[in-house]
Amino acid sequence: MPPDVFKDWSAQVLARVESALSDWVPDSAPAGLGDAMRYGVLDGGKRLRALLVQAAAEAAGACATPAGAEAALRAACAVELIHAYSLVHDDMPCMDNDVLRRGKPTVHVQFGEAQAMLAGDAMQALAFEVLTPDAGEGAGVAPALQARLCRLLARASGQAGMAGGQAIDLASVGQSLDEATLRDMHQRKTGALLRASVQMGAACGGLAPDSSAWQALTDYGHAMGLAFQIVDDVLDTTQGSEVLGKTAGKDADANKPTYVSLLGLQGARDEAAGLLQQSLAALARSGLSTQATAALAALAERIVHRDH
Ligand code: IPE
Ligand code: IPE
Ligand code: MG
Ligand code: MG
Ligand code: MG
Repeated sequence: MPPDVFKDWSAQVLARVESALSDWVPDSAPAGLGDAMRYGVLDGGKRLRALLVQAAAEAAGACATPAGAEAALRAACAVELIHAYSLVHDDMPCMDNDVLRRGKPTVHVQFGEAQAMLAGDAMQALAFEVLTPDAGEGAGVAPALQARLCRLLARASGQAGMAGGQAIDLASVGQSLDEATLRDMHQRKTGALLRASVQMGAACGGLAPDSSAWQALTDYGHAMGLAFQIVDDVLDTTQGSEVLGKTAGKDADANKPTYVSLLGLQGARDEAAGLLQQSLAALARSGLSTQATAALAALAERIVHRDH
């Protein structure tokens, strides 16, 4: 996909996602909670998970019907809500103790720790509310698809995914993990949600879990999800806080095991490059056309070659 086509495509997707999130994250939540939620979710972030949902949905043909397109938009917003909640909690003093996120003071710095915890809790709940619209809302997402999307997102967010990975992360401070253990931590804390983004998009297009296209897209998401966190580890050491919008150099300061501490900078880069090739190979064997998977391929390149 030529860079200008990808740019236009992502700008259109992001405009829809941003507007839907702004409609769905209520500023009317009581006692200032809405302000903290909106501050944590809106106007920031690369929205790579939302783009993965939409690209996979398009690859699977979801957007041919209004109901499929509506399901994909809801899935994209739900995944970004879970991701934003994970960042709010990740930055709290009891976890990574960070003061800068998306170029702004973190939610707990701005609103206090209790409000940050509650904003994260409420974002998590809202993600599942967005996935389960009433029959009268929007274009109507079939109940079976709602349930499938909820299960994919729940599985990637809980102990088998993000929360479990974060627990390993905190338990591993000061330790040197072997590669298998580090990979397991990264796949859970970050990879699972990226893989689920791809699967949710594929589910919106009705791909069956036993189809070869579903398996290939899952393999794509699996490789890409791990590559994403490896690149995050690399950028933590190579970029400044200005570019990242978050405090650079935190992993070494906090004595966290990362792909850079295990394999060195070049080793980590090589690992990410290998995973990019694996994810492109998965698309090639999906049975979907090159045109259908063009946005997924472009996103894989972007995720590995990004500078923030
Ligand atoms: C940062 O994710 C946290 C990790 C899971 C490594 P992103 O780099 O996607 O953060 P935003 O959404 O663009 O701010
Ligand atoms: C965070 O990983 C993963 C999450 C589940 C939020 P990091 O702790 O490396 O993310 P950053 O570097 O703070 O964005
Ligand atoms: Mg962390
Ligand atoms: Mg962190
Ligand atoms: Mg990091």
